[in-house]
Amino acid sequence: MKGIVLAGGTGTRLYPLTLAVSKQLMPVYDKPMIYYPLSTLMLAGIREILIISTPHDLPRFRDLLGTGEDWGMSFSYAEQARPEGLAQAFVLGADFVGKDTVALILGDNLFYAKGFSHLLQKAAGLTTGGCVFAYQVRDPERYGVVELDAENRVTSIEEKPAKPKTNYAVPGLYFFDNRAIEVSKNLKPSARGELEIVDVIRYYLERGELQAQVLSRGTAWLDTGTHDSLQQAASFIEAVQNRQGLKISSPEEVAYRMGYIDRAKLRELGERVSKSDYGQYLIEVSHEGV
Ligand code: G1P
Repeated sequence: MKGIVLAGGTGTRLYPLTLAVSKQLMPVYDKPMIYYPLSTLMLAGIREILIISTPHDLPRFRDLLGTGEDWGMSFSYAEQARPEGLAQAFVLGADFVGKDTVALILGDNLFYAKGFSHLLQKAAGLTTGGCVFAYQVRDPERYGVVELDAENRVTSIEEKPAKPKTNYAVPGLYFFDNRAIEVSKNLKPSARGELEIVDVIRYYLERGELQAQVLSRGTAWLDTGTHDSLQQAASFIEAVQNRQGLKISSPEEVAYRMGYIDRAKLRELGERVSKSDYGQYLIEVSHEGV
């Protein structure tokens, strides 16, 4: 399975922070925001990832992430000239995905939960159909909203409905078989001029090929869309990390634990930034069990 991180958009709700710097490069406590969704795909077992951003911001993502080789990964890059919808990621990523299955994650979606990597790996094992998640929120009208039957099959989906039928929001993490590419290429822009992800999801739903995994209580799906939610996400990460002495969504650590890099490489990565607490942490992890 291939992975795509969509890190485009203009971040208008975070102005003036985002006038010069992409939202997905902003810090969430001690790491750039994109480290979190990247770690999520890496935990799913995905090693080839396409990063999509604006022509203005893409060079900064390249500076930050490079080829991915140091993390045992392979990163590619593509420009999204205008923010014309989430489903455009599959059109821009068509050659990259080739004949493979594909996971798309939005560059501002943060997840943290016990047993989450197991769920991710199950979803990434998909060979046909689509898989989304459902997460109970207080304010579903801000999101894609699903209705589920007794067996957790999706029976309806609506994008930002004025009157949501349920409290189940769909997080920005989607797993599809290869048809998502053709489906997206054939979509017509919606009234707001975008290729809508919800139309791709609906393709699978109408064929009875859409599964939804309900994320249990205790799962953190964090939002970074406003100054308040960005601050709250940072506080959450700070509180959990400092209490446990473990970092959330360090891609280097994930690469090591997933077996993409060895102990010596992790240590080397830590030593490169050893003046920082982050570097010291990587060095510490590389000493575990020795
Ligand atoms: C997008 C999707 C929406 C989803 C949300 C998750 O909305 O359109 O269905 O629930 O991401 O973050 P956006 O936040 O881009 O408006």
